[in-house]
Amino acid sequence: MESIYLVGFMGSGKSTIGKQLAKRLNLLYIDMDEQIEQTTKKQIKTIFAEEGEQAFREIEHQTLKATPKQGYVISTGGGIVERIENRQWLLNKQVVYLKTSWETVKKRLANDQDRPIWQDQSQDKQLLLQSRDPKYREIAKIIVNTDQRSIDQIVAEINLHLHK
Ligand code: S3P
Repeated sequence: MESIYLVGFMGSGKSTIGKQLAKRLNLLYIDMDEQIEQTTKKQIKTIFAEEGEQAFREIEHQTLKATPKQGYVISTGGGIVERIENRQWLLNKQVVYLKTSWETVKKRLANDQDRPIWQDQSQDKQLLLQSRDPKYREIAKIIVNTDQRSIDQIVAEINLHLHK
């Protein structure tokens, strides 16, 4: 089966849903952020702090292009849609957008210390969510609302709409 890419804002549940979806479909699972941390042997926040966002985006771009075309559920990072090359690359893939409201994101990330963009006081994150939403939509084959829904419900809905 063609690999499935999960996209969506920070806190949309890409990792949690990705693992469960992979189990349900009997596919393997990759978390791109974890993969970047393993290959660079650095935490994402350290890459941002030491090398800057653009360096991270370049690693992220290369990691995306190297993902397996078949047999995997792949959770991307929330900023994957920032680069047009990434959006173009994802356009003909099986992309699922986990759509989440600002209220839910705020609740889920209330205690988060690890996401550099979330911690960046100079950025308006609500505005960032608004500006990314059309970019996620642009590449999505399936859009699933995650607000007030259980993991099982979300996985079942994705499963229903997938091309197998
Ligand atoms: C980012 C989201 C993070 C991670 C990095 C940048 C972003 O992934 O890739 O901190 O720009 O929104 P999650 O969406 O898994 O938090």
